[in-house]
Amino acid sequence: MAFFITFEGIEGCGKTTQEARLAETLAERGYPVVVTREPGGCAIAEQIRAILLDAENRALVPLAELLLYAAARAQHVEEVIRPALDSGKIVICDRFTDATAAYQGYGRSLDLDLIDRLNRLATGGFSPDLTILLDCPEEVGLSRAMARINSAEGGVREERFEQESIAFHRMVRRGYLRLAAAEPERFVVLDGTRGIEETAAAVTETVITRIPRG
Ligand code: TMP
Repeated sequence: MAFFITFEGIEGCGKTTQEARLAETLAERGYPVVVTREPGGCAIAEQIRAILLDAENRALVPLAELLLYAAARAQHVEEVIRPALDSGKIVICDRFTDATAAYQGYGRSLDLDLIDRLNRLATGGFSPDLTILLDCPEEVGLSRAMARINSAEGGVREERFEQESIAFHRMVRRGYLRLAAAEPERFVVLDGTRGIEETAAAVTETVITRIPRG
């Protein structure tokens, strides 16, 4: 019953909360679940994450950023995602290839064909079975994300993307909506401005109806 679910959306759309809720629900129903994230998900890719999200790394150029995401993904797929799917688990991943198209493609204006080729190279050519896009206006998402960052303690401040302008996040949001429109069988777009409980119920219903039986 291997099944690969990804969550996408702009900063502060509520993905992380909803993933945790979904993992809990699926585990209660007896499904074997692995929860992971990008960039990161294994030791080497988490080190790449630290470079990518460090607010001090303002000098990182868009192409280097793109290649680092691809490198982190190649490691994560090989080390975590593929083995979990091969052993019949349900994998829930916080962001995946669509984030690269949305942020580096629509947000930074890097070539979408190049991104597509790099995504294929990094994943060995597979895509999620289901992608849940939690859509929310950039003003709402960013104010939630900044509230979270301001209440966090110490460590590396992972706010390089939160420091981008509202206009950047608007382009990312539009990019996600385009990606969803281009692949309606894979994407489900849910309203990320609703309350946690209401969204969790919508996520559960979406997922349960799609997981193959047996
Ligand atoms: P998050 O774990 O808080 O969602 O943060 C990850 C950040 O990395 C977020 O700002 C989106 C960004 N990102 C990209 O720009 N491209 C990618 O391919 C991925 C996976 C994430």
